[in-house]
Amino acid sequence: AQRSLVLVKPDGVRRGLSGEILRRIEAKGYTLVAVELRSATPELLAAHYAEHEGKPFYGPLVEFMLSGPVLAVVIEGQRCIEGFRSLAGATDPTVAAPGTIRGDLGRDWGVAVQQNLVHGSDSEESAAREIGIWFTS
Ligand code: GTP
Ligand code: MG
Repeated sequence: AQRSLVLVKPDGVRRGLSGEILRRIEAKGYTLVAVELRSATPELLAAHYAEHEGKPFYGPLVEFMLSGPVLAVVIEGQRCIEGFRSLAGATDPTVAAPGTIRGDLGRDWGVAVQQNLVHGSDSEESAAREIGIWFTS
């Protein structure tokens, strides 16, 4: 079955929303394959966010992702990559649809990077790459 790498970002962990986010993933019918609370490192984030290097929000994004622990999760299920991104909602939490994780639980906090609670892989290629980054000990 398809797998995806989900992160509960530091804002989600800090706000005590890890359980609510895992609940939504399980309620949708996806399986939790691995769950680990861990602190990111600059090296790990450079690999994870390689596609965004050089963009204006890259520095603030890395700083934000280092601001506290992250819950790294591997989920599994038919079309779970597309399915989780649908559960997560649009990148900007202000306009993410109600019913989605970002739309229901997120907002704009007036800081340099969008703090939008979760990450989800955007393709099978990304998922394989990201699972390797977060779950290779
Ligand atoms: P992820 O699941 O986290 O990858 O989110 P995404 O795929 O919806 O967004 P994308 O990969 O394009 O960007 C990664 C992260 O960078 C986002 O989740 C935001 O936290 C941040 N980000 C992306 N675009 C912007 C932007 O235009 N402005 C700001 N301030 N932050 C952004
Ligand atoms: Mg992305």
